[in-house]
Amino acid sequence: MSRFALFLLTLLVLSSSRCYAIGSQSNRTVLALASRIGINYGKLDNNLPSPYQSINLIKSLKAGHVKLYDADPETLKLLSKTNLYVTIMVPNDQIISIGADQATADNWIATNVLPFYPQTRIRFVLVGNEILSYSSDQDKQIWANLVPAMRKVVNSLRARGIHNIKVGTPLAMDALRSSFPPSSGAFREDIAVPVMLPLLKFLNGTNSFFFLDVYPYFPWSTDPVNNHLDYALFESNSTYIDPQTGLVYTNLLDQMLDSVIFAMAKLGYPDVRLAISETGWPNAGDILETGANILNAATYNRNLIKKLTANPPLGTPARRGAPIPTFLFSLFNENQKPGSGTERHWGILNHDGTPIYEIDFSGTRSVSSFDKLPKPSNNVPFKGSVWCVAVDGAGEAELGQALNFACGRSNETCAALAPGRECYAPVSVSWHASYAFSSYWAQFRNQSSQCYFNGLSRETTTNPGNERCKFPSVTL
Ligand SMILES: *[C@@H]1O[C@H](CO)[C@@H](O)[C@H](O)[C@H]1NC(C)=O
Ligand SMILES: *[C@@H]1O[C@H](CO)[C@@H](O)[C@H](O)[C@H]1NC(C)=O
Ligand SMILES: *[C@@H]1O[C@H](CO)[C@@H](O)[C@H](O)[C@H]1NC(C)=O
Ligand SMILES: *[C@@H]1O[C@H](CO)[C@@H](O)[C@H](O)[C@H]1NC(C)=O
Ligand SMILES: *[C@@H]1O[C@H](CO)[C@@H](O)[C@H](O)[C@H]1NC(C)=O
Repeated sequence: MSRFALFLLTLLVLSSSRCYAIGSQSNRTVLALASRIGINYGKLDNNLPSPYQSINLIKSLKAGHVKLYDADPETLKLLSKTNLYVTIMVPNDQIISIGADQATADNWIATNVLPFYPQTRIRFVLVGNEILSYSSDQDKQIWANLVPAMRKVVNSLRARGIHNIKVGTPLAMDALRSSFPPSSGAFREDIAVPVMLPLLKFLNGTNSFFFLDVYPYFPWSTDPVNNHLDYALFESNSTYIDPQTGLVYTNLLDQMLDSVIFAMAKLGYPDVRLAISETGWPNAGDILETGANILNAATYNRNLIKKLTANPPLGTPARRGAPIPTFLFSLFNENQKPGSGTERHWGILNHDGTPIYEIDFSGTRSVSSFDKLPKPSNNVPFKGSVWCVAVDGAGEAELGQALNFACGRSNETCAALAPGRECYAPVSVSWHASYAFSSYWAQFRNQSSQCYFNGLSRETTTNPGNERCKFPSVTL
């Protein structure tokens, strides 16, 4: 963290007195170089720079921590040559077997931690990713094994004399059934007693952190007319006062964090520390995704870092002064993440390593290019018609499969494509797919369908139909 000695001292004092996993306790030089802010290094992309190049980019950003979504040996080996603190993850599909068997946990640690530690400064092992956001029967079996798996991972580490790696699990805000006002924060009933209670007991008992993936962008963008953008971007002069507690809020992130603190307190664990495993703002998105743009992303991350690197730490209204370890999401835009356009646009860097916008992980420098960023045109919801059409250059076989998928859910979707009907000609896969995509999207968007189709489609405001064949649209 390229901040001042005073700040480092504060962190060191915290480190030794409360067993902080976040900083080295022995090497002040290292602390002097790294920011408290970390970066998520996701790799769901078919065209990323190599791990070697990516790690150099992370170093040049002066991030203090890096979080991987796996425990890739090449990356972990390369990280041993850096001062970065490292977080690795146990994949969701290994939780059941690790939860059931200490030997499996030992094996996992032997394969993914021991060859690299301590040269690679692994500080957190996170077990699973947002597992409570899924709820099939298989997923529920994963829920039941979460805390047993975390305990077995800790047992393995302790048995090998490793005490400064903490174990956690990142959860999303959908673990809550209520989050507003913050004092009403409460965990979902289906998980409160069976999952959250043992999890909180574990986190409290091991002095670990509640890792939260928290995105003010999502609640803001569900109603960008009535929610205030400046409140989500930490730029508001107005405040919200929680009627139960009288606590005064100046931004949406604090509200969301405190709702988790209140939810934990309701289960009897008011003191478990929070860490932010993911947060950020999308730099672009689909036509209908309001507020996803570079200026908002740069503003959110700049103000976030400033807030979280303040010395002394600011904390939140419910927990004044608490430091909150934080990982930004994400290093790169990731072109293979499914879903709407924003999913593929959370990055800070382009694939060639140039910044999409400048960012200062120390929170101390002003970024000179900030005022030159393009002024957003999508901060208010789009009004008009949008269609979903096949991208140029898509392979016919792939398009054909996507066409079958789009037409297969309801007989209505592609009725107009039948021989003799108004949209049958021209008979090309691309034309039929474009019609099917538009029709499917218009029909099922209200059930969370996206204009994505494995990357074979794009949104357009140019009407693709003609006098004979009218394409269904999403019209707002
Ligand atoms: C502390 O870190 C610096 C910079 O990487 C390194 O040169 C030095 O050897 C380290 N000292 C100790 C005691 O680990
Ligand atoms: C949480 O941990 C603290 C510190 O070890 C302990 O004093 C407290 O009793 C624990 N809380 C619960 C509810 O177990
Ligand atoms: C907030 O207050 C500052 C300082 O008084 C002012 O410059 C800024 O324009 C205000 N922002 C909003 C959104 O009203
Ligand atoms: C769709 O059409 C097929 C064949 O005409 C018919 O058997 C089926 O019941 C229809 N499905 C729906 C959901 O209408
Ligand atoms: C979704 O929209 C379609 C088409 O406008 C409509 O027929 C359907 O009833 C809607 N379904 C829901 C769940 O709102």
